[in-house]
Amino acid sequence: MAPPKVDAAYLKEIEKARRDLRALIFKEKCAPIMLRLAWHDAGTYDAETKTGGPDGSIRFMDELNHTANKGLKIAVDFCETVKARHPKITYADLYQLAGVVAVEITGGPSIDFVPGRKDANVVPEEGRLPDANQGASHLRDVFYRMGLTDKDIVALSGGHTLGRAHKDRSNFEGPWTKDPLKFDNSYFVELLKNDSRSKEQLLKLPTDKALVEDPRFSQYVKAYAKDEDKFLEDYAASHKKLSELGFTKPSTGLKSSASSSWANKILVAAIVAVVAILSYKRAMSPEWDAFLPTLF
Ligand code: HEM
Repeated sequence: MAPPKVDAAYLKEIEKARRDLRALIFKEKCAPIMLRLAWHDAGTYDAETKTGGPDGSIRFMDELNHTANKGLKIAVDFCETVKARHPKITYADLYQLAGVVAVEITGGPSIDFVPGRKDANVVPEEGRLPDANQGASHLRDVFYRMGLTDKDIVALSGGHTLGRAHKDRSNFEGPWTKDPLKFDNSYFVELLKNDSRSKEQLLKLPTDKALVEDPRFSQYVKAYAKDEDKFLEDYAASHKKLSELGFTKPSTGLKSSASSSWANKILVAAIVAVVAILSYKRAMSPEWDAFLPTLF
């Protein structure tokens, strides 16, 4: 399908949909499953064939019926109520916007959202998402295929600070953290705790444990457990990457980097002009030195 025309009207719809999503996610307490929807739509990306990715294809029952997507129809249906009010917005944009809002509304970082994703009409083959029963090398196979790094793998796994597993969906059960509706670094703090000392039976998937056991992963786990701000900053950057896999940003209609780069150029030109004038004045009238002791 063609990409949407990202003009002022589209941007306005995005902001309205953002507000609707905030209200919906707050009311339904569905931030975790909305984040999972955004991740599962994006996480099928294959950088080599440029297929899959955040393209809205998870709206099709063919993809929702993949084993990894069990339960996600709930999130697709929630999004459908927003789509009905803002039909212009592509599913691809809507699902990624829902993921961004889910993180923000639960106390996570702001994530830069650039609209303009086009919807796909084809579904990727089953088996592109990670299998929770496997280990570090499987995680690398899956995330490297998307073009992501070790740091992205660990930061994004921090998404398990939200929500829980459901026996009937994944055969795992329970939350990863004590407050599954709060986006913070507690996933990493809990991951580093010794199970036998903890009373709460918090969940650790085999893939979660792999992050502690693999030295190249565990350096990030330790850093994020120690420094929440660092986690939130890295998470926001990795989430943006995930939500833009295979996405070519539209060049028209956006108050994009183009206008800000013009603003930067004007600012730099103004500074250069002021410095040139002051240098000239100083050369012509040495008494200016008294006024400009620290400038040069
Ligand atoms: C690293 C590989 C990953 C594996 C193997 C994995 C696996 C799983 C599994 C098995 C569940 C339980 C599903 C259920 O029973 O309802 C789950 C839930 C969840 N996952 Fe992941 N996941 C991974 C990465 C991610 C990423 C990258 C994010 C987001 C950035 C994420 C966000 C979530 C959330 C929010 C839930 C809770 C959903 C709910 O409460 O309904 N996961 N994940």
